[in-house]
Amino acid sequence: MHTTPLYRQLANHYLDAIRSGTLKTGERFPSIRLMMEKHAVSLSTAVQVCRELEDCGVLEARPRSGNYIRQPDTVPKPVVTAPPPPIDNSVYLGLHPQVSVVLKAGQRATIKVNLATAYCAPSLYPLKILQDHMIKALRRDPHLLDAEGSTCGQLTLRNILARRALAAKANLTAEKIVITNGATEALNLALRAVTQPGDSVAVESPTFYGLLQILDSLNLRAVEVPATAHSGINLLALEQLLQGPQRIQALIVIPNLQNPLGSIMPDANKARLVQLCARHDTVLIEDDTYGDLVDTEKPLSTLKHWDRGDNVMYCASLNKTLAPGMRLGWISAGKWHDRVEMLKHTQSRGCEALSQLAVAAFMKTPSYERYLRRLRKVLTQQRQQMSEAITRHFPPGTGVTDPRGGTLLWVELPPRYSAMTLFHEALKAGILISPGDIFSNSPRFKHCVRIGCGAPYSPKIEEALAALGHLLKNQG
Ligand SMILES: Cc1ncc(COP(=O)(O)O)c(C=O)c1O
Repeated sequence: MHTTPLYRQLANHYLDAIRSGTLKTGERFPSIRLMMEKHAVSLSTAVQVCRELEDCGVLEARPRSGNYIRQPDTVPKPVVTAPPPPIDNSVYLGLHPQVSVVLKAGQRATIKVNLATAYCAPSLYPLKILQDHMIKALRRDPHLLDAEGSTCGQLTLRNILARRALAAKANLTAEKIVITNGATEALNLALRAVTQPGDSVAVESPTFYGLLQILDSLNLRAVEVPATAHSGINLLALEQLLQGPQRIQALIVIPNLQNPLGSIMPDANKARLVQLCARHDTVLIEDDTYGDLVDTEKPLSTLKHWDRGDNVMYCASLNKTLAPGMRLGWISAGKWHDRVEMLKHTQSRGCEALSQLAVAAFMKTPSYERYLRRLRKVLTQQRQQMSEAITRHFPPGTGVTDPRGGTLLWVELPPRYSAMTLFHEALKAGILISPGDIFSNSPRFKHCVRIGCGAPYSPKIEEALAALGHLLKNQG
């Protein structure tokens, strides 16, 4: 009996063909469809074969062209920017009051222009389609509202998520996915499963303020590792930290469209990061909240893709891409699945079934991919318009990121400006922004501002940006 899995047998078969020269460097590799036909295998097996060969460094995917054979020694080297800036360990412990001030301000009725949100405008979400799917789901099963849902969530949705993850080169199994109340609950569960109060958890710096709040609420110490808009977390700085005396129990990274920097880690960096964490026995928690908003035809790889030792906990969300009100997220916790399932059950039980079924029904159709493609295109235009207006209205010396997707721009003002002062003054004028102060426990980003581009560009937004520019002039 064969104990080697089918995909590996096939990968070995192709490796032999490459070694013997039957398949030559530069030659096109059989398409997934052809492999499925030729070997009578499933889609997932064919995809796994390609993934295995990519990992061996002998296969290269070229956009819109297919897979090609390549020399193993042409595998790109990781991008490591040196020397790393020092890690700021003057970690603030205790509640992050500034975040609460900013979040509360967002709920004021007097807000006229919200440039702080990472969500898209409601007009960009497929709300009518989802409403129809909800009505159909309820008609099909009127007992949805009285049946107790399963802790892990609806299998139909978990199957779709696992299949979609394959395209992003992450091999998740539906049985080991837990549907959560957004990525927020997924991250909470991941941290609770692998840490104890008092442990140190590394994060990128700057990072999404919600992560800092979660760490704070679980009595975990946030240790910030510098990151850049170019390639994300600085691997040298991280390595130094992991080799140092302080035990780092877990690391949370947003590899694709980091919030707030918009960085995308190159594949080689992703691979090296996964290896580093495995070597130092640091659990890697991947936050893929924005992966589907990357402006490319082919999904980018996830950290989970490079994970050989089941050391990556994958967390994601549909709140930015599909329907913020449904609060759907998920976690694939690998070897910690059972503990995460238990924690989910004790914390909040299963998520409500109706929204999961409605979303699954939509995601099953080709319209979902079409919708995402359109959304990415619209966001690209909105980011560009916003970026141009910032350049027009903000003081000379202002830098703006140019992310390859998503809804966020990170604006770096000359250091003499105060983002918090701007925040308070803008609030009086009914404009909401996210000051850089809340993206770190250190004072490193006091002159930075995060601007959301989720709303269609309009004269009202142009006016708001001009008003911000005017307030900054008064500061300068
Ligand atoms: C990077 C990142 N992770 C997690 C979250 C929380 O996501 P959710 O709304 O799905 O809980 C956000 C929300 O802005 C985010 O930007």
